[in-house]
Amino acid sequence: MNKSLILHFRPKMVDARALRFSMTFGLGGMALVLVFILFFTGLLLKFYYLPFPEKAHDSILYIRNSVLFGAFIRNIHFWSANFLIVITFLHFLRVFFTSAFHQPRGVNWIIGLGLLIIVLSFNFTGYLLPWDQLSFWAVTICTGMLEYIPLTGKWLQSMTRGGLEVGAPTLSIFFAAHTALLPGAMIILLPFHFWRVRKAGGIALSEIIDGDKEKYRVKAIPYLLLREVVTALVLIALILILSIIFDAPTGDKANPGLSPNPSKAPWYFMGFQEILLHIHPFFAVCIIPVIILIFLLVLPFIKYVSNSKGVWFISGRGKKSAFFSFILALVLSIIVVITDEFIPDFSAMLPGIPMLVSNGLIPCFIMALAFAIFYFLLNKIYRPDRNENVQAVFVFIFSVFITFMITGIWFRGSSMKLVWPWLLAG
Ligand code: HEM
Repeated sequence: MNKSLILHFRPKMVDARALRFSMTFGLGGMALVLVFILFFTGLLLKFYYLPFPEKAHDSILYIRNSVLFGAFIRNIHFWSANFLIVITFLHFLRVFFTSAFHQPRGVNWIIGLGLLIIVLSFNFTGYLLPWDQLSFWAVTICTGMLEYIPLTGKWLQSMTRGGLEVGAPTLSIFFAAHTALLPGAMIILLPFHFWRVRKAGGIALSEIIDGDKEKYRVKAIPYLLLREVVTALVLIALILILSIIFDAPTGDKANPGLSPNPSKAPWYFMGFQEILLHIHPFFAVCIIPVIILIFLLVLPFIKYVSNSKGVWFISGRGKKSAFFSFILALVLSIIVVITDEFIPDFSAMLPGIPMLVSNGLIPCFIMALAFAIFYFLLNKIYRPDRNENVQAVFVFIFSVFITFMITGIWFRGSSMKLVWPWLLAG
């Protein structure tokens, strides 16, 4: 009985081509290992952590300084959580760039997007728990952004904060979400995710031309299992080494009266904070994320012209057009970041015009124009088919986002002015 339940998730035989490391890089499996580590270490931390503003920071110091292996367990939790974001994002990219989101895997792509949101929410809610300056102000900034969502913004903000300001109710809500709501959602979605992989007949691979699938079949145990165990052990070793060498940060206890300069969002939200520096918050917090989300949600339902599943970057032309999109996005975003630092705001240049127009619609129009030029050049130079076009647009959007994120993390200093990292260090 037990065995048959497991076989719902794991097949007896697998396609040997799926075992090639370069096919998946073991990223989905790594994400799962990290989820297990996080659940286990989180459970241990819960024995000592106290979710009250006057006690939270002290309980973290107690775990760090007085509990046997407390600092080590906390470090493992911290490193695994950060790795989980990176690994989940890389897995998302691997799925995209091998066209593994095409039907019949569309539903699983959407479940995956749900998992990505859960992983980000896990990290964000956990970020507040140490109740130090860094976490308090990061959460103040991020929940402050919610205000710009039309109609429901204020309500959403007071729901997440549990009041007008970040305080005791916020900590309590974040703790409940981090330790009950999100684990529950994860426990429901993950088996569903794996079952869908199984239902689609395993991971996406290219069609076999001669039609003899059987000759590629190998036993899952030991061939797949061995690879999974080795990947998991290497990952665990890496996490343990990092946790021995580098401690999870603990800042000074949160002081609601003293905001640090700069006040930055957690690193994975820095892309949005950077966009906020260039455009009206309504567009940065509402319109742009909604457009990106809709784009991601409709991806599996586009009618594709060729079967590129299991083939990295679709084709030779796909690779070239993706690289072109990456370079163009990189150059354009650097130009935006630098020029915006030195030219005055549109609202200063166009006094009397509502900010929503001067700082919102006008920059959006310029962005749309830049995108149109990119799309025109792409099609003129490479003549990509629909699969390659979708891929190029995806690369363009995500390259802009990643460039903004890196700028926010490493190139913004006091008052969010542009700096060079070595000047920051000095
Ligand atoms: C906690 C997060 C996640 C975990 C633990 C996870 C785990 C896995 C695993 C183990 C697989 C099997 C193949 C592989 O290793 O690549 C897989 C496949 C898949 N995942 Fe995820 N995943 C997560 C998040 C995501 C995200 C964010 C997406 C995309 C939005 C996604 C979409 C998919 C799809 C479409 C497949 C099928 C791929 C194929 O057939 O080649 N997953 N996932």
